[in-house]
Amino acid sequence: MLNFNFYNPTHIVFGEGKVAELDQLVPKNARILILLGGKSAKENGTLDEVTQALGNRYSEQFSGIEPNPSYETLMKAVEQVKSNQLDFLLAVGGGSVIDGTKFVAAAVFAKTEPWNILLTVGSEVTQALPFGTVLTLPATGSEMNNGSVITRKETHDKLYFKSKQTFPQFSILDPTKSYSLPPRQLANGIADAYTHIMEQYLTYPTNALVQDRFAEGLLQTLIEIGPSLMENPRDYDLQSNLMWTATLALNGLIGAGVPHDWATHMIGHEITALHGLDHAQTLAIILPTMLDLRREEKREKLLQYADRVWNINTGTDAQRINMAINNTRNFFEQLGIKTRLSAYNIDSKDIQPLLDRLEAHGMVTLGEHDTVNLTMSRKVLEASL
Ligand code: NZQ
Ligand code: ZN
Repeated sequence: MLNFNFYNPTHIVFGEGKVAELDQLVPKNARILILLGGKSAKENGTLDEVTQALGNRYSEQFSGIEPNPSYETLMKAVEQVKSNQLDFLLAVGGGSVIDGTKFVAAAVFAKTEPWNILLTVGSEVTQALPFGTVLTLPATGSEMNNGSVITRKETHDKLYFKSKQTFPQFSILDPTKSYSLPPRQLANGIADAYTHIMEQYLTYPTNALVQDRFAEGLLQTLIEIGPSLMENPRDYDLQSNLMWTATLALNGLIGAGVPHDWATHMIGHEITALHGLDHAQTLAIILPTMLDLRREEKREKLLQYADRVWNINTGTDAQRINMAINNTRNFFEQLGIKTRLSAYNIDSKDIQPLLDRLEAHGMVTLGEHDTVNLTMSRKVLEASL
């Protein structure tokens, strides 16, 4: 096992009806900004529940945080916080609203242009407003981590930052809040969580027995519940298992003491920034080809994945690996996510601009062994067409 620090201060409040606990979680004298996406939290009643739970506290709202939250929009929220001396943020939504809230929390105190928070990957953040979240879309794990991914529309940059200051104080996870998810977003959530686990699990063995078994258990849970959940999105048990799996997939626990990959995510972010695909769609396209092309580097873990996650234990090594990768692709397809670039009208002429963006962002030595250079990224993109 590798050396590690594990720090996670987020208080999780899980279960149906738990939004009411906002009354205990938010200070009585807080001046609150509730941050929202489009209409979903209004339409499914979550916003009403939130405002009711906040009672007489002073609160304002900021809505319109888009999927892949933009710097341009979020800077308007920063203005609102500053002009009205608000001192507590409450994100009500999915990963985009939560990521956006983390950015606003930090940007309020920025001493230089807030975009520098992204350019320095958060290293200059020394202070942030306290914030909590009410999660409506299980997917990103943002509700229990300190990471945030922000897009600058003007330049098509999609960059991330993290800081010790940007963990949510608390997150309310009420699985009934995701009953209203459209199939596409539900599938996206399952695929995103799945890929988060793979980015931290499918590297090389370090005798991290617990992390491996936890990761395998989370993957098997998604495989077990994914298709049924697509059929029964209002099933409490299925939704609650997805919600907790997605949170555990990226709260630092399975990633402590093990090598990480993240090459799939970094290439995926460029595809979203240039072509607007959903985050999870990019992962479902890139992950299977990434595993295939790096099968030598990842050989031992691919065989372990085949055996322990998919119960594949016959055939040659190459055959087992092929089957495990095919099963991964089929799992995404079964959820209704297309796993080829061509299905989204992206063709060979689009590859060079994606590589140019990776280069501009310094994404030239990705992966657990720094082997994903631009040549490898090109191969992955070409094989994903
Ligand atoms: O905007 P509204 O109307 O709220 O609709 C949203 C949005 O259109 C809708 N939605 C959310 N909850 C709903 C609902 N619709 C009906 N019922 C509900 N209960 O879903 C749409 C997508 O929402 P979004 O928040 O964008 O999705 P997701 O949670 O998948 O977040 C994606 C963002 O998170 C980033 C991604 O890059 C992307 O920008 N990520 C953040 C990470 C992190 N902080 O750790 C890690 C991830 O790898 C990822 O990069
Ligand atoms: Zn992700």
